[in-house]
Amino acid sequence: MESSNDESQAHQILDHHNKTRESNLVNLVALICISFILVSYYYKSDSLMASSIIFKQLFDQASATYSYLLAEKASRQAVFIDTVYEQHKRDLSLLRELDLELLACLETHCHADHVTGAWLLKHTTDCKIMASEHSGIELLDKSLSSRSNVPFGNQALTVIETPGHTNGCISFVTNDKLMVFTGDSLLIRGCGRTDFQEGSAKQLYHSIKDDLFALPDDCIVYPAHDYSGRTASTIGEEKALNPRIGGQANENDFVGYLENMQLPHPKKLDIAVPANIKAGRPNNEQLPKQPDWGPVTISYSGVTEISPQWVASHMNKVHILDVRTTIETGEEQTRIRSAQLIPINELRDRINEIPKDKPVMTICRSGKRSVLAANILREMGWKKVANVSGGLLRWYDEGLSTIY
Ligand SMILES: [Fe+2]
Repeated sequence: MESSNDESQAHQILDHHNKTRESNLVNLVALICISFILVSYYYKSDSLMASSIIFKQLFDQASATYSYLLAEKASRQAVFIDTVYEQHKRDLSLLRELDLELLACLETHCHADHVTGAWLLKHTTDCKIMASEHSGIELLDKSLSSRSNVPFGNQALTVIETPGHTNGCISFVTNDKLMVFTGDSLLIRGCGRTDFQEGSAKQLYHSIKDDLFALPDDCIVYPAHDYSGRTASTIGEEKALNPRIGGQANENDFVGYLENMQLPHPKKLDIAVPANIKAGRPNNEQLPKQPDWGPVTISYSGVTEISPQWVASHMNKVHILDVRTTIETGEEQTRIRSAQLIPINELRDRINEIPKDKPVMTICRSGKRSVLAANILREMGWKKVANVSGGLLRWYDEGLSTIY
């Protein structure tokens, strides 16, 4: 009896071990599967943003407009969505600094609150201008409609027609449906008004509910405007929380809301719409004038700069202002022939020593503090001022002449 009991106990222990081993194995397999799914998801969502696309969200304070630059890293090909006329220099500098080839300026619609920078970018970069065939914009290189594809490198944006704010509103979705650029159709916790430009609240309701809300919940919403400092949302968030169309709101709720808003007339409507019909072409069809005294560039950070090579070959036409401290000039002693030495900390007090009859070129060791000097001069009324790009370090590197 005893031996049979022992045997039964041994079987039970063995059985228990086997079950535990099986359950551990099942847990391990489940863990591996979950890890694999998570890693794949992370890789999928991260790969677009981190490895193959350059993405910039840019803001125009005056009109609270967002512009979006998307570029594919390998080919450097780019598209710009909803640019702003007054931000042309900023946008052009960014394209040049990042070494991007702009293929297209895309308009989500014919805007009523700002003038597009599309025409200016077309004439400075040779890009195409694209918008909806119903946008009313006359100078399009390509008309877009539902499911049109806008490729850049190995990426592309797909067009969804989202009329309602205007008759010609479109949204752009990335290949992986992780980003959607909604223009004024869907804003963060809001939407575009529908009381002018052939707007229709009913149409906008269906554009948002049927088309935009059909995108994945984690798709990030990038609108054309925000007036409260918010930068992005998601389809899931707007489905749940948008006060006009989220949650249980039906067509009547939405239309009733929009038709009773009684918003004031947009300030720029009478200027912006006619200008945007021409894709932002100025009346004189001229690009903004470059200064006539030298080939300056304006960097993305807004600094007016000029190359040391140009300054060195035009020494008699410019005034060079070296703003290094006396300690630096004492230690290094090297300076550019004819340069006036006024340390940056003395500049405001000695401002009247600087002539106004020639363009002033500010310089320091690395070209950083001299930016401040150029800004001070401009604030004090000097119109022709530029910072020597890269300062004395670049001047030396390029083998330009100095004296001791
Ligand atoms: Fe708009």
